[in-house]
Amino acid sequence: MINIALVPVAGWGTRLLPATKSQPKEMLPVGRKPVVQYVVEELVQSGIRRLLFITGQGKTSIENHFDIDAPLISFLRETGREEQLQELQFEREDVEYFYTRQRRQLGLGHAVLCGRAMIGEQPFVVALGDSIIGMHAQSDIVSRMTAIFESEKADVVVAFEEVPPHEVVHYGIAKPKGSADGDLFELADLIEKPSVSEAPSRLAVAARYVFSPVIFDALTQTKPGKGGEIQLTDAIRLLLQRGHKGIGVRLTEQERRFDIGNFESYFQAFFDFALNDPQYGAALREHAKKILDS
Ligand code: UTP
Repeated sequence: MINIALVPVAGWGTRLLPATKSQPKEMLPVGRKPVVQYVVEELVQSGIRRLLFITGQGKTSIENHFDIDAPLISFLRETGREEQLQELQFEREDVEYFYTRQRRQLGLGHAVLCGRAMIGEQPFVVALGDSIIGMHAQSDIVSRMTAIFESEKADVVVAFEEVPPHEVVHYGIAKPKGSADGDLFELADLIEKPSVSEAPSRLAVAARYVFSPVIFDALTQTKPGKGGEIQLTDAIRLLLQRGHKGIGVRLTEQERRFDIGNFESYFQAFFDFALNDPQYGAALREHAKKILDS
């Protein structure tokens, strides 16, 4: 049973400057919660009990966020603010947190490699700290992926989302072995940011992975690509080329991937979550309608 996830949160977040100059992009709010809290809640829902964050410079607010804040809890309790106290419930989840630092930002693949000593010889999940799956993170994609990893005896399982043709240039795109019509398909290859005409499908890598520890060997053998960074996609390709089994799993229609890494999709995510807020959503819809009609 896979119950450990590595959550890389060490990237610069340059596409979100100046918002990310002195705060991590993973701590930006989407609706009421910071992005990374949704990621953790989703993982916990899928049975993950140990979380290894790969952090970096300027990211300590992430560690603080998941600490149990005893003075704040007593203050809220003493002043009878039960509702606000409920908002801190996530602190008390039955989860172990581990943190290590990526001392130089050498790419996502390198960030994953920084977890090697801690992960050791067990299979593990990778969940990007800047992407939410499903409205309010209501998704069990990770538990579906770990079940498939075990039943298919795979070395790599990757989540995919179908994107419109003009968006394939932004993502790693699946080249399926045979048909990719079902919920899962075997992977022949991954093509990083192809043009529309080169893209073998419209299935884009969607921020969740399950790996056997062979990925670490592949990462150590992966040469730095664009910008001197070690790309996770390149290491996955290496495994596929060597005959390791890779499976793609589709997100369902309810499991939209909200990518917080650039302003366009960050704004959309915030807007969607705020519009769907159980308490404030209805009033915001009215407000938005008024603005749009004027
Ligand atoms: P991105 O590919 O969006 O890169 O990272 P980035 O550096 O954070 O952002 P930009 O391009 O400068 O705007 C995807 C995930 O991988 C982590 C990020 O924190 C994010 O959660 N990451 C990326 C690392 O942990 N280390 C890295 O060196 C790069």
